[in-house]
Amino acid sequence: MAALDAALTHVRSHHDAYLEQLTTLLAIPSVSTLSEHRPDILRTAEWLRDALNCVGMTRAELMPTPLHPMVYAEWLGAPGKPTVLVYGHYDVQPADPLDEWDSPPFEPTVRGDCLYARGVSDMKGQIFAQIKAVEALALQGKLPVNLKYLLEGEEEIGSPSLDAFIEAHRDLLACDFVLNCDSGILAPDLPSLVYALRGLAYFELEVRGPGKDLHSGLFGGSVHNPAQVLCELVAGMHDADGRVTLPGFYDAVVPLDDEERRQIARWPMTDDAWRAMTGAPRLWGEAGYTTLERVGGRPTLEVNGLVSGFIGEGAKTVLPARALAKLSCRLVPEQDPAAIKSMLEHYLAENTPNTVTWRLRELSHGPGALMDRHAAPVRAAAKALKDVFGMEPVFRREGGSIPVVGVLQEKLGVESVLLGFGLPDDSIHGPNEKQHLPTLFKGIETYVRFLAGFQA
Ligand code: BES
Ligand code: MN
Repeated sequence: MAALDAALTHVRSHHDAYLEQLTTLLAIPSVSTLSEHRPDILRTAEWLRDALNCVGMTRAELMPTPLHPMVYAEWLGAPGKPTVLVYGHYDVQPADPLDEWDSPPFEPTVRGDCLYARGVSDMKGQIFAQIKAVEALALQGKLPVNLKYLLEGEEEIGSPSLDAFIEAHRDLLACDFVLNCDSGILAPDLPSLVYALRGLAYFELEVRGPGKDLHSGLFGGSVHNPAQVLCELVAGMHDADGRVTLPGFYDAVVPLDDEERRQIARWPMTDDAWRAMTGAPRLWGEAGYTTLERVGGRPTLEVNGLVSGFIGEGAKTVLPARALAKLSCRLVPEQDPAAIKSMLEHYLAENTPNTVTWRLRELSHGPGALMDRHAAPVRAAAKALKDVFGMEPVFRREGGSIPVVGVLQEKLGVESVLLGFGLPDDSIHGPNEKQHLPTLFKGIETYVRFLAGFQA
């Protein structure tokens, strides 16, 4: 108990130092999707390796993958105690659109109660908070649990190296449970725990017509325009009720039960507030479900990008040779990404006219995950949240995806606890990403209490 109090006191007296250190981590633009940032990815991994060394890990190193390295670290000095595998990702999304940022994305800036920078909420701030909690505990003596760290640099591009890495390092990663920090709570005064994540299946659809771009006057009306065909195909993927039309798309979906619908309804979020977060004129979605049910518990098909023809300034009379759509499906945990791919192929085979050709490429896929709300580590997290925030957390499903959760369930048979301190309006992946600092500091205290809870 004395150690816990001392650790919490340490945390409360170091907010300024934390802010300064976190700023140096955020200043490194570790954008995983852009190859010119490879050196930054490496520097970020090294920053974290060094930080983990500093808080007493007995091993901390970069481990190569075909793309960006994993940071692995461990401290196994508490035999008989649980071994916790801490997961995080140190890569970030690109910062575009740059001109919409009020301060440069990689020059972390405090405004009001918030720190603004790309990756501050998703999720360097969360990894940092967890490491600082370990530091505060380590300063009081022995840590209450054994720790392993797996920090990846490819989460934001669909974790392409993760499956093989976990497969090849089963023993190294063996643990009792996973503490996944890539998460958030509902509001500064409303703690929550995520027990389900959506999966993702991401595709590129290309439609080809003429062998090269043509003059739209000389040839228009004589060949089928691939941009038009692509739009018709994409438009046919939803019906007027907002449902996805691919045959079989909903077959595996388990309906939300009444208890889950009641839990979701406890979330004090109005449609108006949700609409305001999006900036859209009206909300839209699958008929028969509330906004929060759609986001947490229903699958979707989204158009992530469309490219065809002339998109420069002014007018160019062109009949394009090809059109491309980036499409992705958010899947509920029961849906299999491979099955979704065959449904799309089937739909395209049935509906594409023979005036064009098409090609579907899968860019990435990851499983969803459903976690046991009653598992002991989840209960421990709920208690830590209650002790810090003064209120029982709400249990909820998350609309986003974190592939590692399902992969670790499948390959190692271990469950994850999702405990992180982002907020829904942090603008992750968008301009002016931020982290609410008082919530982050409470997060450090929550991690301290969570880990210290295994002391007994
Ligand atoms: N941290 C997010 C997912 C998330 C968002 C969890 C909000 C909890 C609250 C994660 O980094 C992310 O954006 N994942 C990608 C995964 C994809 C590229 C496979 C996503 O959901 O789009
Ligand atoms: Mn993330």
